Amino acid sequence: MMQNKCDTQNRVQVSIRNLYFFYGEQLILEDISFDIERGDFLAIVGPNGSGKTTLLKIILGLLKPAKGSVTLLGSDVTSLSCWHLIGYVPQKATHVDPLFPISVAEVVGLGRIAAKGFPRWLTQKDKEAVFRALEQVGMASFVNRKISDLSGGQQQRVFIARAIVNNPRILFLDEPATGIDSTAQEEFYDLLDRLNREHELTVVMVTHDIGVVNKHVNKVACLNRRLVFHGTHEEFCSSAEARSLIPGEHHLVAHRH
Ligand SMILES: Nc1ncnc2c1ncn2[C@@H]1O[C@H](COP(=O)(O)OP(=O)(O)OP(=O)(O)O)[C@@H](O)[C@H]1O
Ligand SMILES: [Mg+2]
Repeated sequence: MMQNKCDTQNRVQVSIRNLYFFYGEQLILEDISFDIERGDFLAIVGPNGSGKTTLLKIILGLLKPAKGSVTLLGSDVTSLSCWHLIGYVPQKATHVDPLFPISVAEVVGLGRIAAKGFPRWLTQKDKEAVFRALEQVGMASFVNRKISDLSGGQQQRVFIARAIVNNPRILFLDEPATGIDSTAQEEFYDLLDRLNREHELTVVMVTHDIGVVNKHVNKVACLNRRLVFHGTHEEFCSSAEARSLIPGEHHLVAHRH
């Protein structure tokens, strides 16, 4: 079989075509098609149960669609070879078994190990990457603590560090700020902005936070089983149908940059 190369230079980094997904008999996603471009900061919004998490899991190959296809970095998701270029912070990542005695450094280090060939141990370079990722989320001083001894918000920040430890090209986040206090949230969104602008990291974030949509993103996808809207933030602001899906939409103002 041909080795799949991953193309990070293409303008289109994620291509979703005619996706259908069912849980049992229930149609969850219907005919979803759109592209995510290099450098996009995309918000996926929509009511509870509208299929946002399901869509992310399909994009990441964790669920198989009934119909349709996903292409990541030029390669079909079913045969992708460069998972180290993809970061993922799942919704409610913080279900930590209190009896599992793993340190913060080890949790983030797992992100390095997962992307390694043989030998699977951490080099000095890996340890530096772990420390740098923890610094970026403001958790460097917790490096030797047990993950189970941290608060929920601190754990969430560690999971975010794990997702960025390999300097991914695309970062998927499913309501990442849940449980994080507002100061840490601002720092976290500023970090995403910085990675997005300075390192051309493509960011795809499920969120219910209209303030974040206003302040940080350049593209919006509104899901309600179907893709109700996909476009730029400016287009989103002038689409009454799209805005009606988010509570607090009356606070919308187009003022990014
Ligand atoms: N494992 C499952 N088995 C059966 N149905 C499921 C399963 N997971 C999710 N669903 C259903 O699929 C639909 C979409 O769920 P999904 O988690 O994608 O929604 P969401 O948009 O992420 O919602 P939220 O904003 O609450 O996170 C919901 O109706 C949900 O009840
Ligand atoms: Mg969800």
